Amino acid sequence: MRNEVAIVTGASSGIGREIAIQLSRRGYDVVLVARRLDRLEQLAKELPTKSKIIVADLEDLEDCYSLYEQTKQLNCTILINSAGFGAFGSYTEIPLEKELSMIDVNIKSVHVLTKLFLANFKKRNKGYILNVSSVAGVMPAGPYMAAYYASKAYVTSLSSAVSQELAEEKSDVYVGSLCPGPVNTEFNQVAGAAFSLKSIDARTCAVYGVNQMFKKNSLIIPGASIKAAAILAKIAPRKLVIKIAGQQQKKKQG
Ligand SMILES: NC(=O)c1ccc[n+]([C@@H]2O[C@H](COP(=O)([O-])OP(=O)(O)OC[C@H]3O[C@@H](n4cnc5c(N)ncnc54)[C@H](OP(=O)(O)O)[C@@H]3O)[C@@H](O)[C@H]2O)c1
Repeated sequence: MRNEVAIVTGASSGIGREIAIQLSRRGYDVVLVARRLDRLEQLAKELPTKSKIIVADLEDLEDCYSLYEQTKQLNCTILINSAGFGAFGSYTEIPLEKELSMIDVNIKSVHVLTKLFLANFKKRNKGYILNVSSVAGVMPAGPYMAAYYASKAYVTSLSSAVSQELAEEKSDVYVGSLCPGPVNTEFNQVAGAAFSLKSIDARTCAVYGVNQMFKKNSLIIPGASIKAAAILAKIAPRKLVIKIAGQQQKKKQG
């Protein structure tokens, strides 16, 4: 790999897959990370630049550390944390193990990889870390997807705080979060839900996300209606926003 390298987690499907394609088209070599090897191999064949496949279960912290160890010598300047999933249902009904897995993937792996790669990027004063959060991450809470919303609130909050610290240090390194509304991927199938709102396609989300990342926008919300919803959620009474969020979630049927 002689070009600059982008590492993309969740590259086997959906938003991560499309972001990997966009970055490869921009000339980056890519490291494709997920559990499903066959999907990653298929994607690698379609990319115009070189790629390396790393099969990792990011629920396992050892796999997160190992991913860093296997890539730290590469000329990596971009990390995209897109691996993640949701669980739909009432808080008392969703199995605890499923939520703990979700916390491991959506929060812990993002935290660990951001921490490790940021230290590396800061030494060179160069690099981009884009954490794929969700519009759920800018909402006060999400009944019937309670732990998922909370996990994404963590990702958005962490990314915004680190971004501010970097700005105060006058660092050129970027950390931001991509906060889409519904995107047509395998997400619903995994979460056991159906969208109650109109979705966008993964390519549209990826193109917008990558463009905004290079513009160093630290909070990226694709689509005018989702942006408007995010603004309304900030100014409307918290209780009302949580109630409406819950009503929207309830409309989702697995
Ligand atoms: N779709 C939406 O409406 C939407 C909206 C807002 C935010 N998001 C966020 O966007 C991100 C990508 O989701 P998506 O919509 O593209 O869904 P997706 O099509 O289901 O893709 C999820 C990706 O995460 C990977 N992944 C899941 N668990 C993993 C694990 N334990 N270890 C390694 N990789 C794992 C999957 O790969 P393997 O199964 O091969 O491991 C897959 O590549 C997620 O963080 C999601 O929360 C989605």
